[in-house]
Amino acid sequence: MNIEIYNLSKSYKTTRALQEVSFQIPGGVFGLLGPNGAGKTTLMRILATLLLPSAGKVRVGDWDVTRQPNEVRRHLGYLPQEFGFFGNLTAFEMLDYIAAMKGVPRNQRKTAIESALVSVGLEDRARQNIRTYSGGMKQRLGIAQALLGDPSLLIVDEPTAGLDPEERIRFRGIMGQLGSQHTVLLSTHIVADIEASCDRVAVLQRGRVVFNGTPAGLAAIAQGRVWDVELDQAEWTALQSRYHLISSRPQNGHVHLRLVGTENPLGRGTPRSPGVEDGYVALISNDNQFVEVEHA
Ligand SMILES: Nc1ncnc2c1ncn2[C@@H]1O[C@H](COP(=O)(O)OP(=O)(O)OP(=O)(O)O)[C@@H](O)[C@H]1O
Ligand SMILES: [Mg+2]
Repeated sequence: MNIEIYNLSKSYKTTRALQEVSFQIPGGVFGLLGPNGAGKTTLMRILATLLLPSAGKVRVGDWDVTRQPNEVRRHLGYLPQEFGFFGNLTAFEMLDYIAAMKGVPRNQRKTAIESALVSVGLEDRARQNIRTYSGGMKQRLGIAQALLGDPSLLIVDEPTAGLDPEERIRFRGIMGQLGSQHTVLLSTHIVADIEASCDRVAVLQRGRVVFNGTPAGLAAIAQGRVWDVELDQAEWTALQSRYHLISSRPQNGHVHLRLVGTENPLGRGTPRSPGVEDGYVALISNDNQFVEVEHA
């Protein structure tokens, strides 16, 4: 399913949360990346028909989100950033309730629920109280409820926040599988999630699209500007305003750093090929609005 977003703006009372946002989601897994407050949830809530835009247009498949919200809802599964679980129900009971709300016919509900549970690897825990679930299991159950009704579009808002590394990897696997059958829009501020599961990515910053392209295209923004270097603390203190720090680890009284910046630090840096995180940091930390938009 194809999603088209044209000149979308949304203002809350005093905040311009989205400003003339335009991009297309052709299918597969599309990542929406951006720092806190960038407008990711606002955009997703508009797509999910829960919030009206101030201006602009969004088409989900053949339908317009403002004029045909019911049609859009029928083809949509949504996992909000803050999803309330019913702790006293079992996963099966919760899914049964949500399936009924979504209008899944009674005689199809059991099959639909079982298939959703299998998609997220929770089939063995379906009869346990949700209260006994770990955070990662709850997130997977959140995906299962979004899958009910067989939506063509899945919108998942920061599904990996707070997950441990093992659950995060598992989650990426699930996203990858879902992307072969559905259009998936996934928001995150964890760059590694994008690298692992997304075909395409848009970066939002302060309500604007500052990048739209492939993860490799995002990485390439930092081409020729990534360095590994060992410095002592005084050297780093003197240099730090000119570099963006990607990572650091202490090493025999020195610090081993990965930096993004135009010049080789003290001529002692080893050039590295950029990853998506380097490109993202280079992009969003440039306040001169370094805009690199790569069209489909
Ligand atoms: N209901 C609201 N009323 C007023 N301002 C809001 C409302 N919801 C969001 N905002 C503001 O709009 C901007 C975008 O918020 P949004 O929640 O869409 O960002 P986000 O990218 O999802 O952030 P996060 O990564 O923290 O979830 C922020 O400045 C936020 O404070
Ligand atoms: Mg959000």
